[in-house]
Amino acid sequence: MPTKPKKERYEIDPDDGLPRELVGEWVAEKHLRLQHYIDISRAARRKFNGNSTFIDLYCGTGRARIPDSNQVHDGSALVAGLEAAKHDPFGKMYIADLDELNVSACATRLERSGLGNFENFIGPAEETVSIITSKLNKSGLHFAFLDPYNLMTLPFSVIRTLANFPRMDLLIHFSMMDLQRNVSFFMRSGRLDHFAPGWRNHVDQNARNNVKVQAVFQYWCNLISELGYKDPTYQAELVKGTRNQPLYRLVLASKSDIGKRFWGEVSNVTAQTRLPF
Ligand SMILES: C[S@@+](CC[C@H](N)C(=O)[O-])C[C@H]1O[C@@H](n2cnc3c(N)ncnc32)[C@H](O)[C@@H]1O
Repeated sequence: MPTKPKKERYEIDPDDGLPRELVGEWVAEKHLRLQHYIDISRAARRKFNGNSTFIDLYCGTGRARIPDSNQVHDGSALVAGLEAAKHDPFGKMYIADLDELNVSACATRLERSGLGNFENFIGPAEETVSIITSKLNKSGLHFAFLDPYNLMTLPFSVIRTLANFPRMDLLIHFSMMDLQRNVSFFMRSGRLDHFAPGWRNHVDQNARNNVKVQAVFQYWCNLISELGYKDPTYQAELVKGTRNQPLYRLVLASKSDIGKRFWGEVSNVTAQTRLPF
């Protein structure tokens, strides 16, 4: 049975009768960066001639509105699919989410947007990642967008499974706000073990909160580097909210050199200075 939309985070979109999420205004920047990645990777997709995929393990409903405004945004799967379709479409898209209702809404919106070439799955990312990767071609070009609300729903096993593929770029939403608020609890409760296995040998539990936050982030980036990715720390930038509070870092992990191009061209994007593409 699909669950009902949670009142505080979802509403029904009057345009299509499907649930849409209510999100902070920073969603625009996140999607702009996603769109930019799809844009600059199009030549590579062309070379792979249909043997390319987009994987969205936390796909959401496919549409969101910023509260107290009329600003409505496509969700990540639509942003990615529509941008790729302009030039070099993905050979296949895979979407998944823990929430059945979200998957269903996102799938319907993809279809209605002419992006019917996808498969969808319901479940926690640590399960759907295995199902989806079992369908991927080892010699293909793959790109996974990992956009959880909070860090504990992104166990490191998800990244490790994706990293088994030689050409699997990752764009990861890392909630600094979540870590800032909860790092001590995550450590005490043992929950950090799934997110950043081995952290106990690298992070001082008695350090100040900010020091712990930076150390965990750095250690997690190092874990990704050990999987063959190039310097994800360097490619991470902190997005701040309207009150200058740290919100998230978007981390691009790639085994090719696309990362430098990506951040070089896009790192100064803010809500005020949009890139013209
Ligand atoms: C930030 S929203 C995704 C927004 C979407 N990527 C976008 O940009 O339009 C996070 C999503 O993760 C889903 N979620 C929560 N826990 C999850 C888990 N363990 N595995 C997969 N999805 C999960 C939620 O239902 C929610 O739809």
